[in-house]
This record gives sequence, structure tokens and C-alpha cells, in this order.
Amino acid sequence: MKAEKKQYIGIDLGTSSVKLLLVDGDGAILKSVSRDYPLYFPHPGWSEQNPLDWWDAVVSGVKELISGTDASSIAGIGCGGQMHGLVILDKDDNVIRPAILWNDGRTAAEVDYLNNEIGRNKLSALTANIAFAGFTAPKVLWVEHNEPENFAKIAKIMLPKDYINYKLTGVHCCDYSDASGMLLLDVEHKCWSDEMLSICHVTKDQMPALFESSDAVGEVLPEIAELLGLGAGVKVAAGAGDNAAAAVGTGTVGNGVCNISLGTSGTVFISSDKFGVDPNNALHAFAHADGCYHLMGCMLSAASCNKWLCEEILHTDDYAAEQAGITADKLGCNPVYFLPYLMGERSPINDTDARGAFIGMSMDSSRQDLVQAVLEGVAFAIRDSFEVAKSLGLDIRASKLCGGGAKSPLWRTIIANVLGISLEIPLTEEGPGYGGAMLAMVACGAYSSVRDCAAALTRVTDVIRPDPEISARYEAQYAKFRLLYPALKDTFKAFRTL
Ligand code: XUL
Repeated sequence: MKAEKKQYIGIDLGTSSVKLLLVDGDGAILKSVSRDYPLYFPHPGWSEQNPLDWWDAVVSGVKELISGTDASSIAGIGCGGQMHGLVILDKDDNVIRPAILWNDGRTAAEVDYLNNEIGRNKLSALTANIAFAGFTAPKVLWVEHNEPENFAKIAKIMLPKDYINYKLTGVHCCDYSDASGMLLLDVEHKCWSDEMLSICHVTKDQMPALFESSDAVGEVLPEIAELLGLGAGVKVAAGAGDNAAAAVGTGTVGNGVCNISLGTSGTVFISSDKFGVDPNNALHAFAHADGCYHLMGCMLSAASCNKWLCEEILHTDDYAAEQAGITADKLGCNPVYFLPYLMGERSPINDTDARGAFIGMSMDSSRQDLVQAVLEGVAFAIRDSFEVAKSLGLDIRASKLCGGGAKSPLWRTIIANVLGISLEIPLTEEGPGYGGAMLAMVACGAYSSVRDCAAALTRVTDVIRPDPEISARYEAQYAKFRLLYPALKDTFKAFRTL
């Protein structure tokens, strides 16, 4: 069953910007628009955004996206959003304080309380996961402990993309994939965990209603449709966390399919038909947007490390020029190493004190060595999560690759060789936005399931295969990389700035 002449809007509510896609029922991207918004670091290791900045960016982005289009052809909207961010609304649905984001590290004390006093085993039994600083539940406790006046005002707890869905439809909603990252959901049974809610001193009526990602939560409110220039009856899908949406957008659905996302964060996402938990909880066990489940490792700074080095330190936005001299013979031979922990780290080390570091520099180290070290350090850190997946018996021979960093041919080659697997480049690298549009198609009945939609619309356009010689060199370098964090762990603690 295929929609005729219908169009869909896919939204990727990211950390540095919102990207919007206009997609037709055959999956062709007709237009894309993006809008930046500010990211605030009010204290080292903290990370906040203003939900109204997201909304303003979505409003102006949608207006531009659909200008010149017959608005009556737009049938649905679906959003993939940055995960875990705490958005709190008062009884009149006003935002109480800036959102505390997924890469914010302020909750070390609350994470310690949850993991060590409530206990990892209990958390894992209730939610399939343990506490990480970026997860939502520790942030709820942080607000209670540090801003009791704000805590007292909370009428609704939401995630970033759900704030957009609320502004569009007036419905307080959340999908299972994104809700999984709150540490308040019983992931296996797909319902709020009463016990976790009570540990965090919140009640079920403060939580949004739960949906599958491809369910329609409602229609765009008439006054908002008028504001945006949309027709009547545009359906809004529940959407998904950005990683689950990206997985849909790259065709990472079904059992044992892997997607690596190289965005602000870096993730290794393995879809699964069955619910399963990593016994050490190093990988997150979350619901997927296709109705099933996935395991995921998340590093907090991936493409953002390269952006930081190029833009903040080298004062250039010409990333390709910085990478131009890094030829194949140099891969696996760089004496300079980089630890990519610019915002602390989540998977697999779970350490808010960890920080970025260059190791191995000498008088002949060049600018190019540092650029290469950053690309390699991110690849090695992705391999750390990959190794955890392998230790669980998952046999991953290939992975899709998406996200802004995936545009660099050099970085693709480095990752394929560091992981020793083939990387499949999907037709669209705009994973979360494209996945969002696909969820909207299913919500509108254009496809009968997310998997059908993925089978019809996603395909691989290029495959990057590892080179045995380069891979062998990286194997030796990865063994050295693995020595660095354990050697520096206590030093990072002594240098704590949080
Ligand atoms: C996943 C995570 C990040 C954000 C980035 O657990 O925290 O990938 O979703 O937007």
C-alpha cells in the first residue's frame, strides 16, 4: 500500500540544530532546511537548552520547508529527538527551567545514590538499565535537591521531541524508545515503573501518555496549523529518540542489524526482535521504534570532537582541508592518541570526571597528527562499545553508518578499519529526520508497519570494506589506546571540575 501525492515532514531535533525534511510517499527527499539554536554550558560539564528555542526553530523551519508546496498534500509529521533531556512544565504548561540535556554531567551524586544505594541490580530489574549522568531520572532528583522551588512546580515531565509534539498537538505524549532513556520506564513491559517513579518522588500523572513510535498521537491543532501554513488534519506520529529514528531511517530494523551514528554523540545501535539486557548494563537496553528492542552504547562526544578541534582550536570550518593530507599509509601509524571525553563519558566507562587528552606528542607532532588522532580516538571509543556487544555474543560483521561525521570519506575508512567490519552507507545520512518522516508515513497508514516502510524506502549506496593491513596496524594501536583511560582514571577524578 503506497500513499499517492502525499508528503511528510521529518524533524531531527538535534543538539546543535533542528533539521527538517520534506519527503514524498516514495521516500524522495524534496527539500531540507535547518535552523541552529544556542547550547549553553553554564558550568563545566553542564549542558542546557531552552525548549522555546527549539519550538521557534521548528516553526520557522517548517514555514520555510513548505513554502511553495501545496500544503494540503502534507499528511503527517514525525520527529526524532535528542534523548534523555529533562523538560519540566508547570500546571499551565509553561517551561519551568531550561532543559538539562543528554550530555550534562551534573548528576554524579544522584547517579551514585541510584546505582549504589538503590542498587544497580534493582534498577536493572525495574528498568533494564542502570543510572548514567545523562539519563532523565537522576536529573529529576537533581532538581529536587538543588532547586526545590522548581521541583514543587512540576506538573509534567517531558523529553525534548515530546515538547515539540505537545506544542503541535496539545497532547502530553512519549514513545517507548525515548521513554526507555528516562530510567523511569519498565522497558520490557512498556509501562512506567511505579517503583522508579516513587524512588524519584514523582507520580504517574506527571508523566506523559505512552505510544508506539508509529502511532498517531493526534493532529496539529488548528491554530498551530494556521501559524505553520499547514492544512487541516495533519497527523503527528509519536516519533522516537534520535537513535531509534536514525535506525529506522537507515533500515536498521529486525534482528541483529547494526547502525553507527557519528553525530554530536556517537552510538552503536543493535536492533533485536527480543528484549535482552547486558548483564553489566554497559550497553543500554531500550525499546526500538519498530515495536521491538535494541541494545545501544553511547559516547558523549563524537563528531563534536572534530568540530571542537577544527572550529574552536584551529579556527577553521574546512574539515576536508584539514583531513586532505591524511593518506592511507598514515593510518594506524600515528604516535599521537586522543581520549575523546570532552563531556565526560557514558558508554562503556560511565565516568563524568573523564576529560579529553592528547597523549604521545613530541616536537615533530603536526597539526595533521592531531586532526588524525581526534578521528582515531573517536573510532577507538566506538570500538569500546563494540567490544562490549561482541562480549555478549553478538556477531556483527557489518554496520550502517550515519550522522554528520559519516560524510568524511577518511573517517569512514578509519572506522571500518578500527572495527574491522564493513560499513554500509545508506541512501540518506539524515537518519533521524528521515526516520521521523517514515514514522509519519506509518502513522498515516501509507505503510502497514515500520519494517515494511524500511524495506520499501531504505537502501545502501556504498560499502566501505576494511583493509587487512590497515586493520592489523589499528589492532595494535587499539591495544595501546585501551591502556590510557585506566591509567588516567584517578587523575581525572583528582582534577574534577564539576
Ligand atoms: C543516546 C544519547 C545521544 C542523544 C543525542 O543515549 O544520549 O545519542 O540522543 O542526541
